[in-house]
Order: sequence, then structure tokens, then C-alpha cells
Amino acid sequence: MSRITYVNGRYLPYVDALVHVEDRGFQFADAVYEVIAIRRGGLVDEAWHLARLARSLGEIKMAPPMGEAALKMVLREVVRRNRVQNGLLYLQVSRGAAPRDFVFPRDARPTLVVMARSQRRQDPRLLEEGVGVITVPDIRWARPDIKTVGLLANSLGKQQARAAGAYEAWQVDRDGRVTEGTSTNAWIVTPEGEVVTRQADHSILNGVTRRGLLQLLSGEGLHLVERPFSVAEAKAAREAFLTSTTNFILPVVSIDGAPVANGHPGTLTLRLRALYDAYVAAQRGAP
Ligand code: PDD
Repeated sequence: MSRITYVNGRYLPYVDALVHVEDRGFQFADAVYEVIAIRRGGLVDEAWHLARLARSLGEIKMAPPMGEAALKMVLREVVRRNRVQNGLLYLQVSRGAAPRDFVFPRDARPTLVVMARSQRRQDPRLLEEGVGVITVPDIRWARPDIKTVGLLANSLGKQQARAAGAYEAWQVDRDGRVTEGTSTNAWIVTPEGEVVTRQADHSILNGVTRRGLLQLLSGEGLHLVERPFSVAEAKAAREAFLTSTTNFILPVVSIDGAPVANGHPGTLTLRLRALYDAYVAAQRGAP
């Protein structure tokens, strides 16, 4: 649990960290957010997260709550005050509180909330044994590339996965092709050895982990293709995996209850995970 939370200029005890009932994030999901991994007190790929935040804000025509230098200071202060070495930072910006109206308020001030909490080390079994996914229809709005807090469809999908004993749900578009997980990006390795993930257009969130891994892959001489893949292709894949800030890279060993290849984590997936761990470890910790 985060002990000190930043809310609109104040560092408050968790129990006192409140926003207004007419906050537009609450009424309209009129808010965007980021989740950033914290390692050795530093923010992993902070620049990419802040660039994506700026893009999300721009796409919904919302002004940034403050300049980037000031925001970075707030993020560091929240990490510091909560003494987080390894964990997650959550930041959310809404268009502010105003009497309920679909039209943007003219003079509302954005609401900025920042939390940070420590996390235990990832359960090693997730990596050793891999995880299962189910497939569900992608029922989200047409702009999941914008990181808004409108996450009900994602939550319903994840809940359905957990109820089915799976770790994640891979969402599927009308053409039978996987878009992404409910909070992760989806990847396969084809029998021909292509590493495939969907192109970052309006149909998926362009994950920061996805971006980092793509950069690492380009130095590894692998055959990388950004294109949609079908559920059938995923089920016939040599390997499958998922990526996110909260999971890094995890092997996917079953899809809708059927094993991927031999049902064990793929060797390339494990190699990529090791590469990614090294990439994160090489980043600067707390200044
Ligand atoms: N989710 N796709 C979706 C729909 C996501 O919500 C996320 C991240 C990702 C992976 O993006 P990244 O690599 O930048 O974490 C892909 C965050 C972790 C969350 O909502 O908790």
C-alpha cells in the first residue's frame, strides 16, 4: 500500500488521498495514466513513459498538469517518500472536477495523482512454468492506443481469464486476429522463427516494454515482423509470450487450454527475458 500519495500539489497520507466526486476521471473516464516500473529506486524507461503520457494527453486534447521537469520532480519525490526500491509508480491525470457535462469544462484544473508502492519479486514459477491465456472478443473502444483509464473491457477480460484459471486474456478483433492482452502486449514465434507482434496502430497500446524489446531484438539478428496474427496462428506457434511493465516478459504456454508447442516456456522467450532483465539492470537507479 502506498503510504504517501501526491494529489494536486500535496503529499498526503494514503487515507486522505481523495479526489472530488465530480472528477471527470470518475464520471467520464476522462483521464490518462501511466504505470512505470521502479528498480533500485529509479524509474525504468521514464522518458518513453513520459513521451507516451504526452501523446495520450494530446490525443484527448488535455493540457499537461505541469511542465515535464516539475513532473519528474514529483515522481522522484513520491518514490523517495515511500522508500520504494523495487515496485511500481502509478500516475493519473484527469481533466479535473466540474459539474457533469459532456462538453469539456472551460476552467477546470487537471487532477494529478501519483502513487508508488513496493512489490515483492515476481513469483519465479511464472517464468519457470509459463502462463496460460484465453481468447476473448476485443470489445473496447476504437482507440486503445490512448492510455485512458477507461479499462472496464480490460477488467472484464482479465476477470474472465482468472475465472477460467488463466493468467491473461488475449483480445481478438473481428477478423479473428489477436490485438493484445488486457494489460499486456501479445507476441508469438512462428515455426519459421519469425518473432511477431501486432503493429502499433490504433488497435493496441504501444507498450513501453514492447518498444524496449523491439530495440533489443534489432541487435540480435532475429527476424522481427510487426503484423497481426490470428488465434489459429498463435495456437500453432513455436513459442508465445506477453510483455508489460508489470510482468516484463512471460512465456505463454497455453491458449484456450491447448498447449503452445510442448507446453513449456520457449527457449527464445527465456533468452529474451534474460536480455530484457539485463537491459533493465543497466538503467540508472535513484539519482
Ligand atoms: N498496462 N496493453 C495494455 C492494454 C496495457 O494496459 C498495457 C500496460 C500494455 C503494456 O504496456 P507497457 O509495456 O507500457 O506496460 C499493453 C499497465 C501495466 C497497467 O494498466 O497496469
